[in-house]
Amino acid sequence: MDKFRIAVAEGDGIGPEVVAEAIKVLDEIASRFNHEFVYEKVYIGGIAVDKFDDPLPDSEVEKILSCDALFFGAVGGPKWDNLPRQKRPETGMLKIRKALGDFANLRPAKVFDELVDASTLKPEVVQGIDILVVRELIGGIYFGQPKGIVEEDGIKKGINTMVYTEPEIERIVRLAFELAMQRRKKLTSVDKANVLDVSQLWRDVVDRVAKDYPEVEYNHLLVDNAAMQLVRNPKQFDVIVTGNIFGDILSDEASMLTGSIGMLPSASIGGNVGMFEPIHGSAPDIAGLGIANPIAQIESAAMMLKYDFKLDKEAEIIEKAVDMVLKMGYRTPDIMSEGKRKVNTQQMGDLIAKTIGDVE
Ligand code: NAD
Ligand code: IPM
Ligand code: MN
Repeated sequence: MDKFRIAVAEGDGIGPEVVAEAIKVLDEIASRFNHEFVYEKVYIGGIAVDKFDDPLPDSEVEKILSCDALFFGAVGGPKWDNLPRQKRPETGMLKIRKALGDFANLRPAKVFDELVDASTLKPEVVQGIDILVVRELIGGIYFGQPKGIVEEDGIKKGINTMVYTEPEIERIVRLAFELAMQRRKKLTSVDKANVLDVSQLWRDVVDRVAKDYPEVEYNHLLVDNAAMQLVRNPKQFDVIVTGNIFGDILSDEASMLTGSIGMLPSASIGGNVGMFEPIHGSAPDIAGLGIANPIAQIESAAMMLKYDFKLDKEAEIIEKAVDMVLKMGYRTPDIMSEGKRKVNTQQMGDLIAKTIGDVE
């Protein structure tokens, strides 16, 4: 029996609701394939602020480092929005990403045939989309120094700095080219090189690294154009590689191609312990209502099996089970359309877990 230790941070808002459904699915996989998943509960985010007055206590980092993976529910919410920056839930999340060294955040946006009508775009525009956003996760403007709010001559000044070193760019770009090689061999690098020096360096590194991957057809897009192209003709994209903030924004945009932000998982890799979380947040507007879509969290569990535990077959089975449940017509409200069967968070989790056994 294979044993895997999984640190589970259930998060805030809808976090615990969707994490519970993903654990159901993981348990089903464990029992069918004779794996043992041991869950170690850890506290990150608002829940940790409430308990320890710290969004990421050292004790939790130590626990996570002793595990094989971190399975993460989104953090944050209005309750904590007015705390000083170092006490905010999001700061805990950024710190754990950095502490784990997970520099690559893979955000796949795939359109299920069944959901082409759930997108706000025309079916012919979104059908067949299969994009992988490769977002640099532990550098750029999120972490650059100097930063803060300072006061000079009675005038307040807010400062953040976008910095990337050449090695930081090279490692994410190389990984993106490697991933493109395993897919349709097309890569788009997104930057703002017409204005930003940090983007010019990014572009120079992409051009250099590209020489090692002659089979990959690549291009550069400025981020404003990329945002437009994503809704104009999203099928032109295979792998998109970009920095931290552009990747954050473009992946939320890409999620709407798939019908809902509640559908998009992610894997953060490259460090010692991988971190797996949906791209959406804690959705305070629907927290506690039991209507959140758990698919992004469940697919994040599948990514954990694939990227961290090398359980490719089990990951694929989860993906197929999700597909089958959608084909049967079950929908949470965010992806609901006429003639389909509306279910809540728990029912969707139950259906996917139950369907695992029916996957061929
Ligand atoms: P959000 O992603 O939480 O919500 C945006 C919209 O999408 C809301 O209308 C919400 O109801 C909907 N939505 C999100 N997930 C859904 C799901 N699974 N099913 C159905 N609908 C869903 O973004 P926001 O409102 O800007 O942020 C809320 C909080 O979450 C903030 O505190 C933010 O900092 C935090 N956040 C955390 C993470 C994370 O921990 N990884 C990511 C993004 C935002
Ligand atoms: C995400 C979120 C986070 C980010 C926030 C909450 C810090 O938006 O994971 O996409 O910007 O990385
Ligand atoms: Mn985001």
